[in-house]
Amino acid sequence: MPRLLIISNRLPVSITEENGELKLTPSAGGLATGLNSLNTENEVRWIGWPGITTSKKEKQQIITEKLEELKMTPVFIPKDKFDGFYNGFSNSTLWPLFHYFQQYSDFYEHTWRDYQWVNYLFAEQLFKVAKEDDIFWVQDYHLMLVPQLIRQQYPLASIGFFLHIPFPTFELMRTMPRRRELLNGVLGADLIGFHTHDYVRHFISAVRRILGHEHHLGRIRLQDRVVEVDSFPMGINYEKFANAVNLPETKVELERYERETGNFKIILSIDRLDYSKGLTQRVRAFNLFLKKYPQYRGKVVMIMIVVPSRDTIKHYNQLKEELDKRVGSLNSKYGDITWTPVRYYYRSISFPRLIAWYKMAPVALVTPFRDGMNLVSKEYVATKDDGKGVLILSEMAGASKELISALQVNPNNLHHIADSIYRALEMDEEEQIERNRAMQKVIERNNVNRWATTFLTNLKEVRSKSLNILGNHFNTEKETKLVKAYKKSKSRLILLDYDGTLVNFRSNPNSARPTKTVFNIIDNLSKNELNRVVLISGRDKEILEKWFGEYPIDIIAEHGAWHRKNGNDWSQIKKLNADWKKTISPIFQQFVDRTPGSFIEEKNYSLAWHFRKTDPGLAEIRKPEFLEQLSHVITGKSLQIMEGNKVLEVKNDQINKGKAAQKWLKEKDWQFVLAIGDDYTDEDTFKVLPPEAYSLKVGFSETAARYNINSVEQVLSLLAKLT
Ligand code: UDP
Ligand code: G6P
Repeated sequence: MPRLLIISNRLPVSITEENGELKLTPSAGGLATGLNSLNTENEVRWIGWPGITTSKKEKQQIITEKLEELKMTPVFIPKDKFDGFYNGFSNSTLWPLFHYFQQYSDFYEHTWRDYQWVNYLFAEQLFKVAKEDDIFWVQDYHLMLVPQLIRQQYPLASIGFFLHIPFPTFELMRTMPRRRELLNGVLGADLIGFHTHDYVRHFISAVRRILGHEHHLGRIRLQDRVVEVDSFPMGINYEKFANAVNLPETKVELERYERETGNFKIILSIDRLDYSKGLTQRVRAFNLFLKKYPQYRGKVVMIMIVVPSRDTIKHYNQLKEELDKRVGSLNSKYGDITWTPVRYYYRSISFPRLIAWYKMAPVALVTPFRDGMNLVSKEYVATKDDGKGVLILSEMAGASKELISALQVNPNNLHHIADSIYRALEMDEEEQIERNRAMQKVIERNNVNRWATTFLTNLKEVRSKSLNILGNHFNTEKETKLVKAYKKSKSRLILLDYDGTLVNFRSNPNSARPTKTVFNIIDNLSKNELNRVVLISGRDKEILEKWFGEYPIDIIAEHGAWHRKNGNDWSQIKKLNADWKKTISPIFQQFVDRTPGSFIEEKNYSLAWHFRKTDPGLAEIRKPEFLEQLSHVITGKSLQIMEGNKVLEVKNDQINKGKAAQKWLKEKDWQFVLAIGDDYTDEDTFKVLPPEAYSLKVGFSETAARYNINSVEQVLSLLAKLT
């Protein structure tokens, strides 16, 4: 059974120093509390920062030994890098941007460099304890470059990545100067998980628009791998929270709180100090509630527990000051000697106290502006053993997708929050129980173990899909065999597609001219009298003639509409008619006009609409519309529509590359046949080849070819070896 290596910035325990003594304390925050409850079959080892920066070797040694007992490996981040990495790029660039606080998100090259440096450090420490057959599970925004670093070290490893915070819309992601590096870093993983489908959508759209990788149903196909992107809403350890209510230590706290808060009804608020949590907004909403519903003055108390977090960062610090002020002014406005409306605690609390507050609060107010998931809301509901209590939850928290029976609010709508507090306090018990039971069912089922197991099972499946692809991969060993067969043979047919096979086609097809290397290869191959080289392309004959006319090769143009053999004139296998172009080209023009960045390529017997340079979202809308219109007009015209890589082409249906290739295949009993192509039109060629022929598909989609080859570069390097 492989080990599970969890790599996260924060370990589930943090080391603190008190009077010179090192102590272990549980870490706060959803990642640490959630993942710490994991119970998998695999042996688990954590790799992460122990919450303390020390450069003293003896101290590091003691910490390492303490953590080893818990199967944790510390990563000691040097002080001079920590600030740029943690306070800087992670929490002053990524965190605010990903939580839609763009105005708080700054970008500095030096903090980016520290971020890179620390990501490398994590990878380096990881490699000291890792083996290639371990399962690697990288967590959260601090370590977005690590998946790729692991992939470089262990190309076959099983690597997962989970983001615990929201992934923002492309419009925000595109503003980030290092967006490409970050996305590529994450794409080192086999499986990328988010809490909600919205974050998945945003990520896929960013990958498509920024890196140009297409996807199909959340599956992104890279050159040599498949990367799957999906949502896995993280859960809590339900049993732990549900059972904790009956623990003696919880009961002690409960009795104490009941004595202290008397007959006041509790409205509970628990979060880390963070501007994303909507803390001051919440105090304002409570203020409004007291104003709108004066009958509740002196009867309710808001217990506001704020867990200290990242308080050396400017915006956190400012938030703390503002919160102090707001709470102070609310209390002095409404409070008196017998009643303090907001009891505000700036500290973390022990587990039994947390449970006691959850249990005794009839209302929990969880109103973040943005939150990846929010576990507090789930924990609150889980402790309601009698079903009584009302959760008011922001619709901007990931948890709102599952907790649909909560009173959901827009955190920017103060009136709505104030009215919801009133509604919660007035709600009859039957309704409370009904709502909580429904949510408990969901939380109990989608608990943290289910979350992890589902993620890890999916990870295994994706890896095996990638390994299948690698099985067909045209590797060095297969290349050696091919070159050997080539050298041994005395008559050879070499069928080469052009675009996407000999050159990378990125923009206008007219600009993808042959490179010097391509000319050299064609020259060398065609000079060898044992070889018959056939260029088999969808391009028109004029351009192919212009580029390759002087070489002793044969050319098939326009997918087989034209061919030129032994330097003779161009001829046609079948007499074709092109009158249809007159009726159809206005439709093409209409779509070009409506789709900026797209253009028409006109050939003798076909029309092609290219949309490679078009906004992918727009192309997605236009393409089916275009297809529908075309399918009506081509009926009864012996025409066919071909969908290629960012191109739609209409051509006569009596021809294809396979039919054309047969003419050469039948010519003699070739001792060696090689065909290379990259798109669906080349599939027709692959299908007519004899079984012993070598056929190579550039890229990793489904194919009738024998092998998949990585790239144009690899094709050229292979052809250069055929001398
Ligand atoms: N929590 C904690 N210490 C406290 C109060 C709360 O560790 O003093 C825990 C809480 O139980 C929850 C986590 O911190 O599991 C907060 O996770 P959440 O997803 O709500 O927010 P995050 O802090 O991750 O943004
Ligand atoms: C969020 C993040 C976690 C982080 C936690 C606490 O939950 O997603 O990665 O650990 O906040 O923040 P901190 O900066 O103290 O680790």
